[in-house]
Amino acid sequence: MDQQPFQPIRLVDYQPPEFLVERLSLCISLAADHTLVRATSVLHRNRDAAKKSGPLLLSGEHLELLEVRLNGEKVAPDAYRTTPESLEIDTVPDDFQLEVVTRLYPDRNTALSGLYRSSGMYCTQCEAQGFRRITYYLDRPDVLTRFFTRIEAEAESFPVLLANGNLVAAGRLPQGRHFVEWDDPFPKPSYLFALVAGNLSQIEDSFVTRSGRRIVLQIYVEEHNRHKCDHAMASLKKAMKWDEEVYGLEYDLDQYMIVAVDHFNMGAMENKGLNIFNAKYVLASPETATDQDYLGIQAVIAHEYFHNWTGNRVTCRDWFQLSLKEGLTVFRDQQFSADMDSAAVQRINEVRTLRQVQFREDSSPLAHPVRPEEYVEINNFYTVTVYNKGAELIRMLYTLLGEAAYYRGFALYIQRHDGQAVTCEDFVQAMADASGRDLSPFMRWYTQAGTPQLTIQESWQQEQGLYGLTVSQQTPPTPGQPRKVPVPIPLLIGLLDDQGNDLTATLSGDHERRGDDVLLEVTEAEQQFRFTGLTSRPHLSVLRSFSAPVKLHSFRTRDELAFLSVHDHDLFNRWDAAFSLSELVLLDLVTEDSADRDERGISDSYLQAMQSLVRSSITDLSLLAEALRLPTENYVLQKLEQIDPDRLYQAYHRGKQELAAFLETDLLDLYRKYRSTGAYRFSREDVGQRSLCGVCLDYLASLAAHRTDLTELCRSHYQEAGNMTDRMIALTAAVQLEGDLREALLADFEQAWHREPLVMDKWFAVQASSSAADTVGRVEKLLHHPDFSLNNPNRVRALIGTFGQNHFHFHHHSGSGYRLVTRVILELDALNPQVAARMAGPFVSWRRYDGQRQQQLRASLRSMVEKPGVSRDLYEVANKSLGDQGEGAG
Ligand code: TRP
Ligand code: ZN
Repeated sequence: MDQQPFQPIRLVDYQPPEFLVERLSLCISLAADHTLVRATSVLHRNRDAAKKSGPLLLSGEHLELLEVRLNGEKVAPDAYRTTPESLEIDTVPDDFQLEVVTRLYPDRNTALSGLYRSSGMYCTQCEAQGFRRITYYLDRPDVLTRFFTRIEAEAESFPVLLANGNLVAAGRLPQGRHFVEWDDPFPKPSYLFALVAGNLSQIEDSFVTRSGRRIVLQIYVEEHNRHKCDHAMASLKKAMKWDEEVYGLEYDLDQYMIVAVDHFNMGAMENKGLNIFNAKYVLASPETATDQDYLGIQAVIAHEYFHNWTGNRVTCRDWFQLSLKEGLTVFRDQQFSADMDSAAVQRINEVRTLRQVQFREDSSPLAHPVRPEEYVEINNFYTVTVYNKGAELIRMLYTLLGEAAYYRGFALYIQRHDGQAVTCEDFVQAMADASGRDLSPFMRWYTQAGTPQLTIQESWQQEQGLYGLTVSQQTPPTPGQPRKVPVPIPLLIGLLDDQGNDLTATLSGDHERRGDDVLLEVTEAEQQFRFTGLTSRPHLSVLRSFSAPVKLHSFRTRDELAFLSVHDHDLFNRWDAAFSLSELVLLDLVTEDSADRDERGISDSYLQAMQSLVRSSITDLSLLAEALRLPTENYVLQKLEQIDPDRLYQAYHRGKQELAAFLETDLLDLYRKYRSTGAYRFSREDVGQRSLCGVCLDYLASLAAHRTDLTELCRSHYQEAGNMTDRMIALTAAVQLEGDLREALLADFEQAWHREPLVMDKWFAVQASSSAADTVGRVEKLLHHPDFSLNNPNRVRALIGTFGQNHFHFHHHSGSGYRLVTRVILELDALNPQVAARMAGPFVSWRRYDGQRQQQLRASLRSMVEKPGVSRDLYEVANKSLGDQGEGAG
């Protein structure tokens, strides 16, 4: 077998394009069973390129080439060559016009990249390399040009025809067809091109910019979803206003369009003036969407809108620079969400994702730097590392420079690079120039993979009132990077006295401050910091607001954590103390020898700490809910050398039950106090109440196996639910229980919602996430449910993606979980490689499991690598996971 069927692309090989495109005119004609694309472009040789002569090489995939014309003359077939991935024209002048006619078959496009069909409509997805499935082109982000798009289609089925920019013409054609023409005045790379054709209805609103321009805002959906767009529209207007107020950025076209589609590989896409969204991130009504959905919509709408400046007006030079636009835009949408809702809860959720998903990736065979150095398939690099760790890098710059210098740096970045395709260095350089700081050491954060480990030692000298910190950092090796160097770490800290008073403001010494915190800059492998003027040994609150994406080597006693969980003035750190305490307790339960455990597994001091939280005066109920929520199994397992899924599961659930039993009356009191059945409002208060009741019910349900009163509580919560949030809280609780209630509620839910695909995704997902004993069998059955389809990524993610995260059942010792997911992945790979590769995530860390599981996981990965016709997407993930074993072993 060929061991390296796919060659990696490397950052060091980057070369400027040999040709530039002056403008591009597309004529796209949609017919019943195919689409014709005539692409007319004006090209010239790039004076900045190394090579000044040679053929023209264009990218193209899955295309039927019908005609090539150079300056109007047909090019003879022997003067060009096609491969499955390219078109090469031997001889071209320095300046010329090129016309390429291609035929494509969007109805057969199950990969959902390029032009495809979703629920009757046509739509496109061009990032990262989908445009080459529409026509042969210089499909790379550093080739920018003005796009002119003409669309022709049958008028009755496709009354709405959309593309980027401004509508400049429309009219009727013979045989019941019509056309529209769109002109986009802003030069853009091909990945930002978009087209939509369908029978869609719209809601329309408008926004008046700071400078007084009136922007038309439109959201296009299928008619039956028209009433579910208000929240998305409101979110868009909030985002537009926020970006003006905080970043001074205004929208630049006269029209902003959003289209919701059912079949979509990711969340949404920031195409210039014509965002295309996974319907999940547009449609919401109280009956069909949960509070989390509402929050997700607000965040994704903002994210795509913010891309208009960070991504579109200033774009990426190459795909290695992906975090330039994604990390920055995620940071911006996180800032926005923090301003809209509970800032502490927003930060908590960001950190949960980082720790649970990004830290895991960073310690897996797929670990890569925020700016990767090579890839086989770029679609595999839309990762939590590039997005979320990337956002943390921007946050660190914000913390290091301070607010004022950060915004100056940002403004400079935009001013310097508007209309350009640039690199991560360009961004950091603008920050450096605006702040007068040398940020070159900071670039290591972009180039070095892995999560730094911080070790902290405290010292205290009573006589001198001298408090000292020794901070050392160390980053473990990652694939291809055996040796690591120190990175600059902004460490926000505070000191408290025994009564919980914050001493930070009264500290002597010339420490830099950020708001209420002291900023320590850790740049060396080991470093000392001293604080004077203290009268008693202080309590340390460290890494406030999670000021850097690092792991803290645990150095605090449980008592200290319990103290901080009550007293810390930094709300994030208060949560973090409770979270770290829970984590330690759960870890104890997993690792201690079960033989010498007594009846009660968890310490009184922990139970007391959690009880004082439940009884505390925290008024932000969302925050209280987060403080009570335990770290997930998937988080706890990271700290285990070798993972025993059975033991983890038993210990985890035993711990949860013990805690629930201890807190039962408190939880019931809270639940009754905040349970509300009034009309749904998406307000901070109401979301907090529902969230808190949800956590209470989740704990209580863990005791419900032999308790009819608690089972009844789940039932009544479901029956009285006036919105999807409450309904899902109850259903999730009930599905953990085996028995009548579960079956009754699942049947009721299906019956009520089978016409709503996004709601049915929840129905599939909740069953796949269940801890009940028969879960693998249920998932197997659901694969054959008439509403399950491999062609719909949301449905695949709901069932298979969720099941892969169901740690205990996915890793069931029989191997049945592995076999099920492997079978689906292999079948899906032929249809949609992007999604198939993502579903392989749960196999990646096979080395962490016992011998038998290792063997089964590895066999699964091998079957992927060796699958005839495997996609580069799946090949890359599976082969990297196997590591050295990938090549030919076994
Ligand atoms: N750029 C998009 C975003 O972050 C995400 C994206 C990249 C995407 N590739 C995609 C979306 C492929 C759908 C399909 O907002
Ligand atoms: Zn993005």
